[in-house]
This record gives sequence, C-alpha cells and structure tokens, in this order.
Amino acid sequence: MPDKPKILVVDQDPQGCAEIQQLLASSPVIVIGGVGFDEEALSIASELKPHAVFVALEEPIGYPLQMLRALSDLLPETKFFAYSSRKDVQAMRQAKALGALEYLTKPLSREKLTDCIARALNGESEPADTRAGSSSDRRPGTIFTIFGTKGGIGRTLIAINLAASMAKSGLVPVLVDLDLSSSDVARRMKIRADSDLVGAARNAAELDEITVDSYLNQHASGVKILPAPPQPTDWREIDPGAVDSLITLLAKVHEFVIIDTPAAFTDLSMLAAHRANTVLLVTSLDPSSIDCTAMAFRMLDASRSGSAKTRLVLNHLTPDGLVRDDDAARQLNHEVYSSLPYDGSIVYGDEAGRPAVLSRPKAKISRAISKMASLLAEARVPASDGPVRGPVSSLFGRLLGAPADADR
Ligand SMILES: Nc1ncnc2c1ncn2[C@@H]1O[C@H](COP(=O)(O)OP(=O)(O)O)[C@@H](O)[C@H]1O
Ligand SMILES: [Mg+2]
Repeated sequence: MPDKPKILVVDQDPQGCAEIQQLLASSPVIVIGGVGFDEEALSIASELKPHAVFVALEEPIGYPLQMLRALSDLLPETKFFAYSSRKDVQAMRQAKALGALEYLTKPLSREKLTDCIARALNGESEPADTRAGSSSDRRPGTIFTIFGTKGGIGRTLIAINLAASMAKSGLVPVLVDLDLSSSDVARRMKIRADSDLVGAARNAAELDEITVDSYLNQHASGVKILPAPPQPTDWREIDPGAVDSLITLLAKVHEFVIIDTPAAFTDLSMLAAHRANTVLLVTSLDPSSIDCTAMAFRMLDASRSGSAKTRLVLNHLTPDGLVRDDDAARQLNHEVYSSLPYDGSIVYGDEAGRPAVLSRPKAKISRAISKMASLLAEARVPASDGPVRGPVSSLFGRLLGAPADADR
C-alpha cells in the first residue's frame, strides 16, 4: 500500500473541492483539487496517476459523466467515486455504468471518504453494499409493457398514470410510446417534444448511457418520455433490432421503463412484450374483448420465458360491465392484478397535461392505478434477456397459429 495515497477531486465548484480537502486534512493522503471538467483534469490525472478520483455529479450531469468516462478510460487502474447533493437514482446508475465504484450523497464525512479510499487501495472492484446484495442501483431496470388486443381499452391512460404515479414517489420512470399511429402520450401529457422514437431508433447504434438521455423529453411530473413521432408513421419503417437496443439501453440507466403499445400486434409491440419483466394485459369487460384477451394470453405464454409475468388488468370502460370481474378471471384463467373502475370524468391530463393521479389523486381510478404502480415497483421480476427467437415477424406469425406450448 502506498505511504501517501494520491486523491484527485474533479469538481467545477471550488467549494466542493475545498470541502473534501478539509475533511481529509488530517488523513495521510495527498488531495489534489480544483479541477473542473476540461482537458486540464485529463492532463493532471495522467500526470498524477491518482489512486482514487472523486467526481462531482451536479446538474447538468452530462459533462461530469463524460469526464468520468474519459478519466476511467485513461486510468484503468484507478478507482472512481461519484458524489452529489442529490440522491438521483438515474445518475447513480449512470455513474456506476461508467465505472464509479460508489455514488456518495452529500453531506460527505471523513469516515465515508476514508472508507472509499481504503477500499480503493485494497483493490475492491465493487462497493461493500453492492456485494452485500443491495444492488438495486446496478441491475437493469424493470420494463413494463402495457399490452392489449383492442383499441380504446385504456392502455395509454394506464401507461401515463403509472409513470406519473411512480414519478410522484420520487422515481424517474421512462415512458416509451410505441404506438406510431398517433402521438398520444406526447399530446396528452402536453409536451412539446423535440425528439422521438424514430430519431432515437435511427441512431440507436451510436447511443450510449449518456447520449440516450438527449432523446428523452422531460415532463413536469418527473417522467421522461420517448414519444412516438408527431406524424403517424408505419412501424415497418423502424428496425426492431434498433428498438430492442434502445429499450435495453434505457433499462440500463433507468429504474423503470414503461412501454405503451398500439392496438395492432406489430413486431414492435411483440418485441416490447418479449423484453418486458411484466406485461400488463389490459381488457375491457365485454365478451368480445375477453375472447381476444384469452387469445393474447395464449400468445404471450407461448412467446415469453417462464420467469416473466403477464398480469391481467380489467378496465371498466362503461358503468355497467357486461361481464363481472370474477367471471372474467375465470374465463381467462388468470387472477385479476388490478381492476380499474369506470370514471365518467376521466381525462388524460388537465390544462397542464397532468395525468389524473396528479390532478385528481383521490379519484377511485387514480387510487387504483397508484396502487398498481406501487405493487409493480415493489415486485421486480427478472426480464427475458435472451434473444427474440427468430425474426420478430416470423415469431408473431408462428404464435398466431401455434398452440400454447408449441415453441417451448
Ligand atoms: N376506466 C375508464 N373509465 C372511463 N373512461 C375510460 C376508462 N379507461 C379509459 N377510458 C377512456 O377510453 C378512451 C380510450 O383510452 P386509451 O387510453 O386511449 O386507450 P388505448 O390506448 O388502449 O387505445 C379514452 O377516452 C379514455 O379516457
Ligand atoms: Mg393508446
């Protein structure tokens, strides 16, 4: 172990550097600070060859993340730590994906810092809490696909409100709109989108943990949105492989990815169902919708891996359901995960595009969706990470004509 380990602090704010220097003043380490996010940081780092580097991650975090990546490429032997005044799960995941051993939240203490330095010097490859099993900030995020067989059954309503409800609890979900026939999510959440799924998919091969963020549009609720393009677009113009990489990348840096799908079974919606940890299969309470949903269960069961779950969501589109909840569950041979009541005054958003869970949190439907959001956030199910079997279109074709277990 070196006599005096060398520590580099990369922080745009001189006070941040000074604070760390002060905390470590009586420790047997050499602290170099006052380095911002520019070339200087790289040249000092390559000259100094520090044992540990502390990088400040304050908003906007694009530059510090790029610096973290550049430094960790430059110094493969060095251990990196990020610190921030905000406990931002997404920033935490991004920092770790780029090589930070740990993400520290201010206020920093001498103990925290010396513990990090000791671990860096001992050559630890993972922070202690991660090894102990609390690795929720490192494993891929959870993907929820809102799926259904008919138009107008409430998929978009559910997707928007689930995302808003998670954001309300302090999470940062990403909402992806795969319904290319209308840009419902952007319109209903009243965002003026300057990027969309088509643009992101076109550049998917070049995107990484940092740059993918530039395609997401921020809603005031905290939800990040990758909307469908404003003009209706034929889904066949989009490469499913690119959308697949995009979804995987989004789940790498976000805790929750919620995918809204079109009524038509397209390659993209089948892909989203395949990639999901949980598919929420939505049906209204009329006999024809129930019949179609039975077929969808068979299709999904045949195409997805055993650990992933398909959950039944009943949506009462009218005050007088033609089929009762327990009859629907019996016919579909699946438990009801959530049953949403009819709400005569449901609108997607108020003037400001705030979904019902935010504008009318006490309404029964808002409570039901919020309850579903917390159930989903609590129960994280492993996703199917295997390849989509065969070209997606042939997968879909086979499934339509195949009995439930033919593809196992
Ligand atoms: N539980 C409900 N009670 C009353 N209206 C509902 C309910 N769920 C959905 N709706 C209405 O049904 C319509 C279609 O919903 P939408 O979410 O766009 O369906 P999808 O995305 O499946 O096509 C919307 O006008 C929506 O407000
Ligand atoms: Mg919709």
